[in-house]
Amino acid sequence: MDLTVSPGPLLSERTTLKLGGRALAEIIVSGEAGLDRLAVELERLGGRPLVLGWGSNLLAKDGDLELLLVSPRFEHGPDVVGERDGKALVRCGAGARLPLLLSWAAKRGLSGLEGLAGIPGSVGGAVAMNAGSYGMSFCQAMTRVRVWTPEGGLEWLGPEGYECAYRRFAPRGLRPGGLFLVVEAELSLTPGSGEAVRETMRANLARKKATQPIGLATAGCVFKNPQGESAGRLLDQAGFRGRRLGGMGFADMHANFLANYGGGTAAQALELLEEAWSEVRGKFDISLELEVKVVG
Ligand code: EPU
Repeated sequence: MDLTVSPGPLLSERTTLKLGGRALAEIIVSGEAGLDRLAVELERLGGRPLVLGWGSNLLAKDGDLELLLVSPRFEHGPDVVGERDGKALVRCGAGARLPLLLSWAAKRGLSGLEGLAGIPGSVGGAVAMNAGSYGMSFCQAMTRVRVWTPEGGLEWLGPEGYECAYRRFAPRGLRPGGLFLVVEAELSLTPGSGEAVRETMRANLARKKATQPIGLATAGCVFKNPQGESAGRLLDQAGFRGRRLGGMGFADMHANFLANYGGGTAAQALELLEEAWSEVRGKFDISLELEVKVVG
């Protein structure tokens, strides 16, 4: 079956922050034929569609939610599909896990994704958020992306067909808040030494482990870094490192990570975020922008 529908999924079981109530239904699309039926099912089931990857950048609200989850499970690849200008062209389904793509690249000595070591999530999510760290972002390695929209169907987009910026990706011409599904990404990676690729990934992961609470239930950094500043440093200086409310709290290790220490609620999370935003605004005259996507 290329498309299945299941009722009442719990967002707390689908997100790394482990927050969120029950959505109306979940549509799982695992093959291209399913995309033909997707528009019909979206219409039939109602609710606001939310495309879900690994759920590693979402803060879902508590209670019953008028959301319709759409889970693309295109898990094919990664595969080398060709060569251009001495680089390997690699295709990978959006449902594959990012860490799996990285270990595959390391095994083959393909360089270009090392900065992403330690980022959880799906390949589709990494595209949709333009995930990044250590000076690189997913879009930098990407040559084309295959997306589905209700209006345009399934199509390959080259760099001229999408906008990509710091933690932002959108097909060009998409209306604000418009629905799109990442189906597949094509990357250009540089053949090199497997040992060198592995070593850089190991070093980035070690840096991450030393500075970020990667073992806790978080959604990564909750605020974007303002131009030339670090949201973590600002939140720390405003006294939010380690600040708790109920089961939620800003991590002791890094103030821009909000963690669910057990039994936390979205209401507590949002209250903490609101407080932090106001305090940073008052103290530094900087309006932080959320990186985590609040849904519900
Ligand atoms: N800092 C503090 N206190 C804190 C946290 C950080 O003083 O509580 C200071 C650090 O000591 C350092 C500076 O702030 O001097 C920057 O911190 P860090 O190197 O940890 O990087 P960051 O700017 O907080 C960004 C990305 C991370 C990415 C790292 C590494 C954003 C919002 N954050 O963090 O991305 O992993 O650089 O490249 O862009 C994410 O997007 O979810 C994420 C975790």
